[in-house]
Amino acid sequence: MNFPKYRPRRLRKNENFRRMIRETNLSIDDLIYPLFVTEGHDVKSPVRSMPNVYQFSVDTLLKEIAEVVNLKIPAIILFGIPSKKDDRGSEAYAQSGVIQEAIKAIKDVHPELIVITDVCLCEYTSHGHCGIIKDGTVDNDATLEILARVALSHARAGADMVAPSDMMDGRVKAIREALDSNGYSQIPIMAYSAKYCSSFYGPFREAADSAPKFGDRRSYQMDPPNVREAIREVSLDVEEGADIVMVKPALAYLDVIRVIRDHFDYPIAAYNVSGEYSMIKAAGMQGWIDEKKVVLEVLTSIKRAGADIILTYFAKDVAKWLAD
Ligand code: PBG
Repeated sequence: MNFPKYRPRRLRKNENFRRMIRETNLSIDDLIYPLFVTEGHDVKSPVRSMPNVYQFSVDTLLKEIAEVVNLKIPAIILFGIPSKKDDRGSEAYAQSGVIQEAIKAIKDVHPELIVITDVCLCEYTSHGHCGIIKDGTVDNDATLEILARVALSHARAGADMVAPSDMMDGRVKAIREALDSNGYSQIPIMAYSAKYCSSFYGPFREAADSAPKFGDRRSYQMDPPNVREAIREVSLDVEEGADIVMVKPALAYLDVIRVIRDHFDYPIAAYNVSGEYSMIKAAGMQGWIDEKKVVLEVLTSIKRAGADIILTYFAKDVAKWLAD
């Protein structure tokens, strides 16, 4: 394999050669589009730090989703912004909560679209933490029961898949048991398995109004320097019944995606999170980078690292670009 016998440039000569030997292909099929749902009517409220991302009320959400379906994006994930918060996050499992109502309305019109729900309490608790607070810290086991109720209420409303993002120990097991014992053994779980305590979630917390009112999430989300621990987290979730495992964020954690790909045989999702979106948007709007090319390069890198599925706020743009 020595020069001049081997010349790698031979296979880069033109686009057809490049297409033929391309190892990674980004597809519309890989995409999950995150959406924020709020209460009220005729609301389409821009998220300041995420240009082109909005909080929708159910009626405007339906219009947005018609577009998503038209673009052939196979799945959405919903985040709820309730009008009332309390210390237990009880709106998260309310029968007519904002997410439950949204799911019913969407499934009525688009039975085929995969509707995934984020299962977490931070948007619903007055203190903004992802679990129940006892003695100043998040109580793991008391939270499990509530998360299971939330997931079950989403399944009852018609969700196609639930995605716990809280990072409590044992939540996948608790949710699997609750679903199975209530007739929802066919509903898969996409677990946010290796979810790091990342500063890249900043814009999301504005979008979802979910910033913690005191302290931070370091006692439950993973410490960014760790990668072996990600293997342990994924092992637990898989043993507890996860169908899809997630690494989050994506870009600063491509090595984690790769390690999980090499260790596990399960579908892997990666979350191209809000901060990753906002950085590219900001630079693109300044004309400092070519937004389209950078987005496609970045999302392709997430697939090359080993992800099968990408959650991204760019999903609609990408679907348009790939369809051209
Ligand atoms: C809820 C949740 C968060 C994100 C997804 N689910 C925020 C957090 O953990 O604080 C972040 C998504 C993003 O930044 O795009 N726990």
